[in-house]
Amino acid sequence: MLSIEPTGAILGATVHGIDAREIDDEQFAHILLALGRHGVLRFPDQQLDMGDLRRFSERFGEIQGPSLNPDDKAHVGTLSNLKEGGKYVGSPDAGQDWHTDMSYRDVMGFVNVLYGIRIPRRNGVPLGGTEFSNMHAVYDALPADIKTRLADTTATHDFEKFWENMRQNHASQRPPMTDEQRRRRPPVVHPLFLTHPITGRKVLYANPGYTTRINQLPERESDEMLEYLFAFQLEPRFRYIHTWSENDLLVWDHLGTIHRAIADYGPDEIRLMRRCQVMATKVFDPGFLRPVHALMTEAV
Ligand code: SIN
Repeated sequence: MLSIEPTGAILGATVHGIDAREIDDEQFAHILLALGRHGVLRFPDQQLDMGDLRRFSERFGEIQGPSLNPDDKAHVGTLSNLKEGGKYVGSPDAGQDWHTDMSYRDVMGFVNVLYGIRIPRRNGVPLGGTEFSNMHAVYDALPADIKTRLADTTATHDFEKFWENMRQNHASQRPPMTDEQRRRRPPVVHPLFLTHPITGRKVLYANPGYTTRINQLPERESDEMLEYLFAFQLEPRFRYIHTWSENDLLVWDHLGTIHRAIADYGPDEIRLMRRCQVMATKVFDPGFLRPVHALMTEAV
């Protein structure tokens, strides 16, 4: 039987009693509700091939292709520092600084689904964790005058900001973006404070990775405000680290969290993950969330 065990930290819960290959509609509604409440859900001991991962992920919405290459139609991406024949089998440095996936798309990201196949260990201790920060809690804790001043503002998100940060500050081997890639990823605008479709509560929807500007403020004020918001949202009180075990399936809510991959392992300490990045193509549809809201009403 499905049960949800919260971590007791600011984010996170473990979902027990579930095989991710066989989830019925009622179980899925409980999972969505738990996702809104806890932000990060761990499904331990899952045995999934690529097709299973894709089918599970598609329940949440449409999957974004894993790369900038328009010819790449795969839906399951590989994140790994493993090399075969001298070449990386997947992306070796994805997500290694604070961000929210697909905040740079018109249709923003809803969830990431990440499946741990090989987890690096040193002296038995798992490395390569994923760290999160809770944007419901951040919004709640923001000073009232900031909330009032920034209510109804919008922010610009730009894919290239993260790309260049990785190149310039993390010694990433990725080449500069081409004009064609820039054309495929133009900057987009979203509200700075979003109403979360599951919880109905406000969240701060900005992240150091992609957010470049608060559009209604003069440039200098916008820079200062973003600096303040980025520092605030990363205060330790809002943060939670998921420590991986092999066969963990992790699902997190992009609307209510920001995250980063912790790059604390070496080239010979192999990390291998499969990822589906799911867009918010369903979650803003009231019909999709009706069973979840019915559960919330029942619980009152
Ligand atoms: C990501 O940012 O999507 C990847 C996170 C991770 O590899 O831990």
